[in-house]
Amino acid sequence: MSNYHIKRLEEYFQVYRKSVRYPEIFWEEIAEEHFVWRKKWDSVLEWDFTKPEIKWFDGAKLNITENCIDRHLQIRGDKTAILFEPNDPNEEAQHITYRELHDQVCRMANVLKDKGIQKGDRVVIYLPMVPELAISVLACARIGAIHSVVFAGFSSTALATRIVDCGAKMVLTSDGSYRGKKILDLKSIVDEGLQECPSIESVLVVKRTGTPVEMVENRDYWLAPLMESAYSDCVPEIMEAEDPLFILYTSGSTGKPKGMMHTTAGYMVYTAFTFKNVFQYREDDIYWCTADIGWITGHSYIVYGPLANGATTVMFEGVPSYPDYGRFWEIVQKHKINQFYTAPTAIRALAKENLDFVTKYDLSSLKVLGTVGEPINEEAWHWYNDHVGEKNCPIVDTWWQTETGGILISPVPFSTPTKPTYATLPMPGIQPTLMDETGTEIKGNPADGRLCIKFPWPSIARTIWGNHQRYKDTYFSAYEGKYFTGDGALRDEVGYYRITGRVDDVIIVSGHNLGTAPIEDAINEHPAVAESAIVGFPHDIKGNALYGYIILKETGESRDRSNLSKEINEQIANKIGPIAKLDKIQFVPGLPKTRSGKIMRRILRKIASNEMGNLGDTSTLLNPEVVDQIIEERL
Ligand code: WTA
Repeated sequence: MSNYHIKRLEEYFQVYRKSVRYPEIFWEEIAEEHFVWRKKWDSVLEWDFTKPEIKWFDGAKLNITENCIDRHLQIRGDKTAILFEPNDPNEEAQHITYRELHDQVCRMANVLKDKGIQKGDRVVIYLPMVPELAISVLACARIGAIHSVVFAGFSSTALATRIVDCGAKMVLTSDGSYRGKKILDLKSIVDEGLQECPSIESVLVVKRTGTPVEMVENRDYWLAPLMESAYSDCVPEIMEAEDPLFILYTSGSTGKPKGMMHTTAGYMVYTAFTFKNVFQYREDDIYWCTADIGWITGHSYIVYGPLANGATTVMFEGVPSYPDYGRFWEIVQKHKINQFYTAPTAIRALAKENLDFVTKYDLSSLKVLGTVGEPINEEAWHWYNDHVGEKNCPIVDTWWQTETGGILISPVPFSTPTKPTYATLPMPGIQPTLMDETGTEIKGNPADGRLCIKFPWPSIARTIWGNHQRYKDTYFSAYEGKYFTGDGALRDEVGYYRITGRVDDVIIVSGHNLGTAPIEDAINEHPAVAESAIVGFPHDIKGNALYGYIILKETGESRDRSNLSKEINEQIANKIGPIAKLDKIQFVPGLPKTRSGKIMRRILRKIASNEMGNLGDTSTLLNPEVVDQIIEERL
């Protein structure tokens, strides 16, 4: 039996027990056996959650790109590393082999050095899902520069805030980006943002859409000619285990984004280990994660985790609805995808459409399906299982966070029996616990509480860039000696975890704790409902009451609204109890969402509470226009 690859349920339990009893031996064995080190560590783990300070493999020296690229060259040089599927289905897909990836990453690394980028410098990457995005991430890692990818759908203000916060010296961008039928002028967004960013010395521009751009002299350079003339080999910078690898911003409870800082060795070991097990990747499989590399899912499970395992990883430039709602399934058929990893929001959007979009494609290559980012409701889970997996593919509901770097709770396919809406069991090395309101650990099952982690794992973020105090306050102060996730969870009789949503989404109605996620689940099961969001608003007697924003399916549009409202409340009463009934129901055309598809309940809460003067920055939303519509029709 190997610690690294779990193949049966008994193995999972054995490996898990070992990882808890002897964590240092467990991770050391994995690190020794499966990675290339320039120097081994002096200690496996040093930690103190009160400071908080966490060090994994301290004293070790390595370069993560040697592990993700160079070491594969001998046996997998001609294997496809990155399979690029363009926005336009008529444009040819690109198969970039490990050897070609090595060449490209080295060239770009040399270009960065030539423009003055050195170890420790910050480089902001604001690119669409084109191969240069993955290549530039790896080029930074090659020379020890710290990358900070900003999702190329954020506004110029959001981009500038991040550049200023990390003091970046360089931005990588493109002339434009394709999103279905639309073209976004990325370079002009960058130009606008850079008016407030004195730290930027140079801008490298990828040509993608042919959109006309203005090039500022001595600052802006087209990337392609520089790459062409660059030397195609670049000696990797030897990094310390705890040297920063990247900064990735995530939103917090305040307006200022938090720059989560991840370091090198632990992140590499953990993302590689979880990729292998959660997706049960085998040598010739084709793996596709539909996330954008602008989010943590793309960092860990498009770039680093898959490449560290010598996998073939797909990068898709487009959107699920272009040229029609069958695009995902067309790609699965075309490239014979074996593992498919997406978000519940995408599943719900596609499940709303005609089933023909799915059934006309051959999906028989699929072995494992994954979801991430939010709780998946039962209806979406069953649709995914029945129509995409054809009841033949385990669904891995993977729970984790930007802060955790890698998947912490998930089934191991073919080992852990799945259960709809349950992320199930912790990965080896992860020690979750549930806490009650008094700060006491809840022992025994079933249980319902706040999810904390008791022991460090290798890919936990080490700090918030430039603000260690905020890191401590946000994650290590609520419960002494524990990492607090901000999520609530249930644990069933056998110890399976179900994430019920952010604790900040819990609403206390007449003294009862109500999670928004289960209520939304209940509503979404109504046949006329496509999606919903629940928030609390102040109520004289109950303290808080519930306000529901509901999107109808096309089939529900013609129904009488007051009958529908009654039916929905009956459904909630049946599924949860009369206490969870909604006081107000507003049928809306859409919900305000972040670019990663999360509903911005903060905005809905303010509208429901009649605090419209104070909505905060809505510019980073996917669909800011929907906010005005919701306000206009407010009840
Ligand atoms: C939520 C995404 C339920 C959760 C990798 C977490 C989930 C937040 C799941 C982190 C899941 C993520 N089930 N909820 N499988 N996965 N979440 O930082 O609330 O974008 O705290 O990382 O998403 O979001 P983030």
